[in-house]
Order: sequence, then C-alpha cells, then structure tokens
Amino acid sequence: CGIVGYIGHREAFPIIIEGLKRLEYRGYDSAGIALYDGKDLKVCKAKGKVADLEARVDSEITKNGTIGIGHTRWATHGVPNDVNAHPHSSNSGDLVIIHNGIIENYVSLKKELSKRGYIFKSDTDTEVLINLIEDIKLKENLKLGKAVQVALNQVVGAYAIAVFDKKKPDEIVIAKLGSPLAVGVGDNEFFIASDASPFIEYTKNAIYLEDEEMAIVRINKPIKIRKIKDDSLVDPYIQELQMNLEQIEKGGYDHFMLKEIYEQPDAIRDTYRGRLLVKEGIIRMAGIDDNIEKFINADRIIIVACGTSWHAGLVAEYIFEDIARIPVEVEYASEFRYRNPVITKKDVVIAISQSGETADTLAAIKLAKANGAFVFGVCNVVGSTIARETHAGAYTHAGPEIGVASTKAFTTQITLLTLIALKLAKVKGEISNSDYRYHLQELELIPEKVAKALKSEDHIKMIAEKYKNAKNFLYLGRGYNFPVALEGALKLKEISYIHAEGYPAAEMKHGPIALIDENMPVVVIATKKGHYEKVVSNIEEIKARQGKIIGIVTEGDENVKSLADYVIEVPESLESLSPLLTTIPLQLLSYHIAVMLNRNVDQPRNLAKSVTVE
Ligand code: G6P
Repeated sequence: CGIVGYIGHREAFPIIIEGLKRLEYRGYDSAGIALYDGKDLKVCKAKGKVADLEARVDSEITKNGTIGIGHTRWATHGVPNDVNAHPHSSNSGDLVIIHNGIIENYVSLKKELSKRGYIFKSDTDTEVLINLIEDIKLKENLKLGKAVQVALNQVVGAYAIAVFDKKKPDEIVIAKLGSPLAVGVGDNEFFIASDASPFIEYTKNAIYLEDEEMAIVRINKPIKIRKIKDDSLVDPYIQELQMNLEQIEKGGYDHFMLKEIYEQPDAIRDTYRGRLLVKEGIIRMAGIDDNIEKFINADRIIIVACGTSWHAGLVAEYIFEDIARIPVEVEYASEFRYRNPVITKKDVVIAISQSGETADTLAAIKLAKANGAFVFGVCNVVGSTIARETHAGAYTHAGPEIGVASTKAFTTQITLLTLIALKLAKVKGEISNSDYRYHLQELELIPEKVAKALKSEDHIKMIAEKYKNAKNFLYLGRGYNFPVALEGALKLKEISYIHAEGYPAAEMKHGPIALIDENMPVVVIATKKGHYEKVVSNIEEIKARQGKIIGIVTEGDENVKSLADYVIEVPESLESLSPLLTTIPLQLLSYHIAVMLNRNVDQPRNLAKSVTVE
C-alpha cells in the first residue's frame, strides 16, 4: 500500500527503506525492493514488516546503487507471502514494477499472455501488468514509456505504478489512476512516493500526478508528464510543501479519523469496483458465486460480529430480509459463543470484522464451523486470521483504518453486504428486474452522495459547538436507520466520552422519554423514505418535553426543519441505501464534539483497534 522510488546521485537503499517506514501507517503485510547498481538489478522481498525486509537484504543482496524502487503491499489478489510481494519482474527479467491498486481485467489479460507463452510465478494482478508491458514493448519494439502507455490503455482498474528497465537504466516510468503518487523534485534527482513523507527531508518541491497521467523521470533531465489517453504533454506544476511529516501522513487532516471519514467516497467505490457492473446488470463476487447453492438453500443467515461491525450486521439484517427474503439473526459474537446456540448444516454464518482479528468473532466462527455451518467472512484486512479461518469471504477493500473509532470500515461493510443481498435477491427471483437495476444504479451513485453529505461539515461543527457540553445524548432512528442510531451513539461515546444511547424511535416512549428535558439533545434520523410520518410524531413528542432536536433529514425537508432546533441534510436515496448517507453527519458530529473537548480522537482512552482478547 505504499511505494517509494529514487533516481539520482545518492545511495537509494536508505532512502527507500526509511521511506517505506514512513508509509507504514498505511498498513501492509509484505515489502520488497529492487536496486540497480550500474550493472545488476537486484530484487529482494519478504512477507512481514520493513524490518524483515531489511534483515533479508543484509543476507541476500548488496545494498549499493543509486536507482531503486520499493514497496509495501496490502494484499488484494493473492495471499501475503514472499512471492506475491512487489517488485514483480517480467519474464525476461529486464523489467520490474511496483504497483498500488487493482487491475480488474487481469484474468483475461493473463489468459492472453499465457497463450503467448508467458509464465506467472505469483497470483498477483501486478505480475500480469508487467508482462503485458514487456509483451507490448517487444512485439511493437517500443521504448519503455510508450509500452507502459499502450498497456495502461488496455487496463481497467486503479493504479499507481513505477517501472524500471535494466536495459535502459537512466529512467523510471510512473503512472497514476485512482491511487496517489507524488514526485519529489531535487537537484538532478527525483523521489517517487505514495505521499510526500518519504522525501520531505530531501526536498520541499513536489509534483502530485493527476489521474490518467504518466511521467518519465530521468537523471539530469526535467520531468516529462503526459496524459495516458491522448499522449498530450502536461506542464509540471511544482508546489512547495508547507506541511510537516505528521501532517503529510494524515493527508493534511488533523486526525486519521477525519481523513478516513473523507476517504469514504473512494473507499465505497473501491468496495464495489469490479463487482458492481451496472450496465450489464451483474454483481460479480467470487466468494458468493462459488458458493451460491449454500446461500440459496440456507434456512437462515446468522451474522456474528462485535462493535461497529455488529451495527453493519444489523443494517444487513434489514436488507437481507427485505430484499432477499432470507431470515437473518444478528448476534454479538461474544454472546453467541457462550450461549449454546442452535446451529445446523443449513445455516450460513457471516462473520464481519474490520481487523479480521477480533477474538470473540473468531471463537464464534470456530463454533459455527464445528457445528457444520458454512462460514463466510467480511473483512477489511487481507490475509487476517478471520479471512483465513472462514470457508469463503469477500474483502471490503476500504484500505487501512487507523483511527480506533471505525468509520470507513462501517460504510464499506454495508456496501459489501448490500451487494451480497442484491445478488441473492436476484438469483432467488425475489426482486423484479427493474427494481434490481434501480438498486444497482442508486448504489453506484452513493459515493457522490457521500461526498455531498460531507459538505455539511461546517454546519455540523456549529451544532457541535452548541451541544458539546451536554452530559447525555439520545439517538433515534427507525427501520434501516435504527442501527445507524446505535452507531451514532457509539461513535459519540467512544471518542468524546459523553454518555449516549441509541434507540428505535418508537421505543422511546417505553423508557428513554423519561430522560428528556431541556438539557437533552436528541439526534433523530428522519429521512423521507421509511416511516417518515411516524418519526415526525416522535419528534413532536420530544419537542413537547423541551428536548433539543437535531434532525438528519432528506435535502429540502421543510417540515422537520420547522420542528427541530437544527437539521442536517443528506441527499435522497433508496431507504435501503440511506444508512450509507445518514451515518456521515453522525461521524462528523462526534468527531467535532471530541475535538472541541480536547479528546484523543484517534486513540481514545481504554479502547483498542483490534481486540484480540475475549
Ligand atoms: C474494537 C474497535 C471497534 C470495532 C470492534 C470490532 O472494539 O474499537 O471500532 O468495531 O473492535 O472490530 P472488528 O475489527 O472485528 O471489526
């Protein structure tokens, strides 16, 4: 998940190794380096941490050379191991590549290349790309830059790449689409990296490549940037960096949590990339496709998870039952494992876990397996224990989540589970063709709508200022948005230490209503689709008792606005997809309250990102 490269007059090894360490916050499971010493190209890779790579370099290769590329990998295709680690070499051994991202059409490209005699050592999409570049280069007798360009025009997916050819060892070719890529411009030298942190101490001059741009960096020559599609030249825009190291790692945001909140449009897109084919009307997910009978014949689905992942499971319960008509039970993994549950061979268990390491969830999986159930994992961390222990699964591809309070993991889990529900609904014939198509189209629009919802941040900040000293908060929602109320309350508790409770709006009258007075802020999710009138009645009840109302409403809603103290608007969508939008303001509200109270937002007291004890 991080790339670093150097071409110039200094020793490349320490720059690359230190640079990779700087990128460690991005998360990874293996690392590798390629160095050119003027004669030989040396490649060394290792599963594990950059320190493991360093140890291996010491025993396997010499460290000298003034050109090199290095990589830390967060697995997407193929398990984390030495062979799948980058750099990858072409069949001739002349070319090496490092790559962040996903090549979606690698299967068909691989087939073609195999027919032409290419052999693949790894399971990665990246090895396919470097051989495609080599094939084009040799077949058409092209220079490296041109061959990379032709190849990238055949590729569907996302990438930041750096490619080196030992037959022409005075240049590195780089390109970007979707994944970030920065170039540090020094004195007759260039640095390449996923962000500026690896080169900030050498140069403050940086160029950020835009999507669909490629560049050639050469020793003692100015950088040349071109558009990949039409080959037109782009004037390099060199900016002077004002940020320090820590700010760069957080992408300029004050906290990882805020950065991750803002990454959600891209993260959701990465979750459905290659899976949601709207034009074709297809949802493609190998883990489901290969086991479709198990899902179709299941008596019920049992979802096990903890914390925020459990909330994603609750949202999934609504969509699985509503659209796919499969009975669902959602269980806290910790309760499930200790209460002698009835599990049969006809049950499908879905385990949801960002980290893939949560001890209770893992124990629940083992219990389900021992009782003959089919267990499917929904994890973010590739190669994690839960991903390995389950019979099949799908990754959310949200990228590393560093903030302890989960944000993008939650919305990407919901996205993935929605894909599964829609797929099953279609296969089971529970959804009409037009309804199905409409869902796919609307799901594809969610990232834009999330981006729009994020625009309310300043308004939310003002509301946070107003209520930051409250001692208690109540969160209410109905239907699909009841779990969102729970998640909103959890976010506030976790990072601001303010007591908060989430409740189904209609349950308020059976207890929490006793708490309501003029000091109680109540966050009510009242979007237009789904029990709107009922929720409005609940709002009236709160108002009658002087409670303070913050309404999360559909754009343009004047009705709730007239009743509530404040409203925060989100774009309209299907009820089943609304949790992906209503969650956003709740994340921002807790974030800003916590910041105003001077809390440690990224590492709240007593909490851990990955809970490996029961
Ligand atoms: C911890 C984290 C939560 C997370 C929960 C489940 O409590 O602080 O943010 O939701 O574990 O983690 P998992 O990795 O299994 O999703």
